[in-house]
Amino acid sequence: MPNHFLGVEGASVSFGKREAQVRALRGVSQFFERGKLSLVMGPSGSGKTTLLSLLGCLLSPDEGTVFVEGVPVNGLSEAERTVVRQKKISFVFQAFRLFHSLSAIDNVALGFELRDATLSGRMEMARDLLVRFGLGDKLNQEPNELSPGERQRVAIARALAGNPPILLADEPTASLDAQAGRNICQILRSQVDDDGRTVVVVTHDPRWQEFADRTITLCDGQVEQERNL
Ligand SMILES: Nc1ncnc2c1ncn2[C@@H]1O[C@H](COP(=O)(O)OP(=O)(O)O)[C@@H](O)[C@H]1O
Ligand SMILES: [Mg+2]
Repeated sequence: MPNHFLGVEGASVSFGKREAQVRALRGVSQFFERGKLSLVMGPSGSGKTTLLSLLGCLLSPDEGTVFVEGVPVNGLSEAERTVVRQKKISFVFQAFRLFHSLSAIDNVALGFELRDATLSGRMEMARDLLVRFGLGDKLNQEPNELSPGERQRVAIARALAGNPPILLADEPTASLDAQAGRNICQILRSQVDDDGRTVVVVTHDPRWQEFADRTITLCDGQVEQERNL
């Protein structure tokens, strides 16, 4: 039986009109297995971010179906899709996207609040996550007082607030030096091994391969290669 946990079937996405039209994805069918770390590789402009945006319900395909936790999300209303995004999916980006005037712990606590405003004990849960990521002594620092690697750890902690089963990361180590990058690879790997999350990482960075279960390579909006590692 095919594993339709997270993925796309026959998905096409175009941007722009007529002569200016760009076909970012051309009939891509691809599923990402539950409880695995998958890589999406490929040259710049090959459609990696577009594919991740479909999986994250940030974008709807022109054609085809997107599945999240086995549910075809195309059939849902916009409001229902927003709930899926809030409860099921977290995002990590190259540029961290932290709130600059908030401390590390407030950034993470806000992550909890955005997912569930009724939740109590947000500061304690935020502290626990940051301690787990080795930032116990940086709780009250603002992003500009942290190193790039530390900022990305705060961003991952914020993304994980509310315990979403799926984590999508777009070039999460592209702004980091070798050591900080490796640390982020290990943290996301532990999200799979220790927490059973499903992680999809878009990357150019070959260092990710030793941490991944599977890799697909996009070229010109199509899957060029699939490989189990
Ligand atoms: N919002 C957009 N408007 C217009 N073109 C876009 C938009 N997003 C992506 N594209 C185009 O779609 C193609 C795929 O982009 P993208 O998915 O961002 O590739 P990648 O992440 O692999 O670099 C590129 O040609 C890009 O210029
Ligand atoms: Mg991209």
